[in-house]
Amino acid sequence: MTTAILDRLLNDHQNLKRVLTVLEREIAKYDTENSDDDDTPDLSLIMDIMEYMHSYPEFFHHPLEEVAFDYLEAQKLAAPSKTSVIRSDHDQLEREGDELRSLIRKINFGQPVPLDQLHRAFEDYAWHMREHMRKEEDLVFPLFERLDEASNQAILDNIQHRHDPLFDEYKQEQYDTLLERLEQLA
Ligand SMILES: [Fe+2]
Ligand SMILES: [Fe+2]
Repeated sequence: MTTAILDRLLNDHQNLKRVLTVLEREIAKYDTENSDDDDTPDLSLIMDIMEYMHSYPEFFHHPLEEVAFDYLEAQKLAAPSKTSVIRSDHDQLEREGDELRSLIRKINFGQPVPLDQLHRAFEDYAWHMREHMRKEEDLVFPLFERLDEASNQAILDNIQHRHDPLFDEYKQEQYDTLLERLEQLA
């Protein structure tokens, strides 16, 4: 018995929750009028986080889940009604991520962005992301515990592997600041 896929997905969730916390703290700084250095949002860190959210969860974590759901459905271990909500969450999270990314890009180009719009876009994205992970962990991930080694391998054979550029062994230097901030989290 192996839990390679379950372990990988749960590990990704733990990482994503921590990255979201760093992003939340940074976006919250757009509320303050205090000009202390510590209270100035680090726009380049925010952009790194949004780039990471685009490059890893959207290109590997969600596709891996979907390939695993396909397998569960084909083996009659999961009803499509159970996984369809989660699949549509992925589309919604990508749309919300795109919207937040485009607001941040505008800020970077010096274009005016109403702060309430920025906060609303972040809150929608973060709430859905956390709620989505909770749903997966409660409703679908327990089903992966029933997969044997051959099933785990069959799922992994159906997806092109992609390194996690933040947490894998071959991490990219671009994310050094983000890694430092993650280490500072309790
Ligand atoms: Fe997901
Ligand atoms: Fe997930």
